[in-house]
Amino acid sequence: MCGIVGYIGKKNGAIPVIDGLKRLEYRGYDSWGIAAKDSGRIDFHKQVGKIGAFELAKDLPEFSGNICIGHTRWATHGGVTEANSHPHFSCDNKIAVVHNGIIENYQELRKNLEAKGHKFRSQTDTEIIPHLIEEKLKEKHNLPSAVRLALKDLEGSYAVGVISQDDDILIGARKGSPLVLGIGNGEFFLGSDVPAFLKYTNKVIFLDENQMAILDQKNQSYKIMDVNTNKQLNPEIATIEWSLDEAEKGGHPHFMIKEMLEQPYVIEKTISVEANELKKAASMIKSAERIYIVACGTAMHAGMYGAYIFALRNNLIVQTISAGEFPYFEHLISTNDLIITVSQSGETADVLEAVRSAHRSGAKVLSLVNVMGSSLMRMSDMFLLTKAGPEICVLSTKAYVSQQAMFVMLSATLAGDITAGKKILQIAKNDIAKILKLMSLDKIKKLAREIATVPNIYAIGRGVNYPSALEGCLKIKEVSYIHAEGFAGGDLKHGPISLIEPGVPVLAFVANDGSDKEILSNAMEVKARGARVIGISFENNQVFDEYFPVAANGVYTPISAIVYTQLIAYFIALEKKLDPDKPRNLAKSVTVK
Ligand code: AGP
Repeated sequence: MCGIVGYIGKKNGAIPVIDGLKRLEYRGYDSWGIAAKDSGRIDFHKQVGKIGAFELAKDLPEFSGNICIGHTRWATHGGVTEANSHPHFSCDNKIAVVHNGIIENYQELRKNLEAKGHKFRSQTDTEIIPHLIEEKLKEKHNLPSAVRLALKDLEGSYAVGVISQDDDILIGARKGSPLVLGIGNGEFFLGSDVPAFLKYTNKVIFLDENQMAILDQKNQSYKIMDVNTNKQLNPEIATIEWSLDEAEKGGHPHFMIKEMLEQPYVIEKTISVEANELKKAASMIKSAERIYIVACGTAMHAGMYGAYIFALRNNLIVQTISAGEFPYFEHLISTNDLIITVSQSGETADVLEAVRSAHRSGAKVLSLVNVMGSSLMRMSDMFLLTKAGPEICVLSTKAYVSQQAMFVMLSATLAGDITAGKKILQIAKNDIAKILKLMSLDKIKKLAREIATVPNIYAIGRGVNYPSALEGCLKIKEVSYIHAEGFAGGDLKHGPISLIEPGVPVLAFVANDGSDKEILSNAMEVKARGARVIGISFENNQVFDEYFPVAANGVYTPISAIVYTQLIAYFIALEKKLDPDKPRNLAKSVTVK
């Protein structure tokens, strides 16, 4: 939630900062703002809405400064207004701050500051930060100390960028929200995520919890300090392998379609995952007494799929828990348990909290995570990188396929046959490539056009395809705002079948895994009540009003089957003239609980 960007160097920092904000817009797009220091003065600009079409040279030609911070907002505290957009300022307007996270004790801090005469201009939790810094500066601290002491007063989570009218430095710090430092040639960048500045440098430091970066313009140097101990640290500089091209649309109209098209290549990457890594992860699984898969949203659906595969192929009982619900199970977790977390971003607050809670109980954590250097990666006892590449569209598509594929490789490793896992994924990869070629066929678009105006869509699946039904409907509802709900086929008769009325589209996922007869009977049941049955199946059947073929890949069929629903969701969004990359009310990384 929310993206922050910072620049310090010799250029007009507003250029890379605006550029970075556009790349981070997936983190929030309610409003945005920038502040830049130019010859001793801080200038700023704030705007409600998306930054997408804004052009610095045309819309704000005079705006410049060598030290600059920017923010794109996903509102938590205070409505979507210009006053609540970042940057926020101290009373004397000398300190400007951008912030991602939530300050839990802001009400108490605000009361204290107001008692000291501070005047607030927004309803945000963030605004207390520049006022706190201002207060510390009055106590004769220099800017780095004032920032450090202010941060120590904060409870909750933050990634911040701070500039001051009186200093030629840019300060960034983090606790609970991500922040990456980019090291360029005589210039530095801050970003909530690497794509924010990847155009300018691929040398980065992933700031760790409670770390603060002090970036100096004159000396062209940086210092990383521990906020709690004030000790200087020497973290490793990493080189990012993602190309800018991977992080950009590459000629496609939306990131969503670009990312869906990358799925065969993503599976290829999973096929080549290091056998040693898989074996290490498999031995953690083997030695665990109880195993829980903990994740959110799409990643949780991938986790559910993993649990079915572990049960069906490895005779393992694994429970999937939505990370937000994990606290209610914490008291049952013990030292011999293993928590497998799944996350694209590696920054989802509920997942990180589950990891902390697992560690409190002495359990081990194995993570399937896509973002290198993410908090989750660093907090886990072991991680497997899903290597889907940067996923920018708010809807998770290629990351889902990579997570399913990683579970297949893990299951094959547990069964002692990694080669079998590779063969299965090869089938899935070829099938996805085939489906994506069919993409241009009018059939999917025609269906999308026909169902774009319906109020409800349902999906049914059994066993490994139950997660497909849930995930397919999540995609549709996220991007088209149509009410879409997935059910286990067997559950229909326990209530949901009462929702079926003439013409309602029902997607039926059918795999050649022994569940086909049952799910086809469920399809018959809804058809008998007037539903329009759309079969995503390894073979055609007379119950289907429309048929979309998938390879007969047994319990692995869902890996390619899901691609149809991604495409249907995408084309419905286009039909409804909605932006598939930035659905309303959503953000890519949910860094708030
Ligand atoms: C999927 O399309 C979502 N936008 C959302 O459900 C997402 O999968 C969830 O928030 C988890 O994110 P993560 O994988 O980054 O942890």
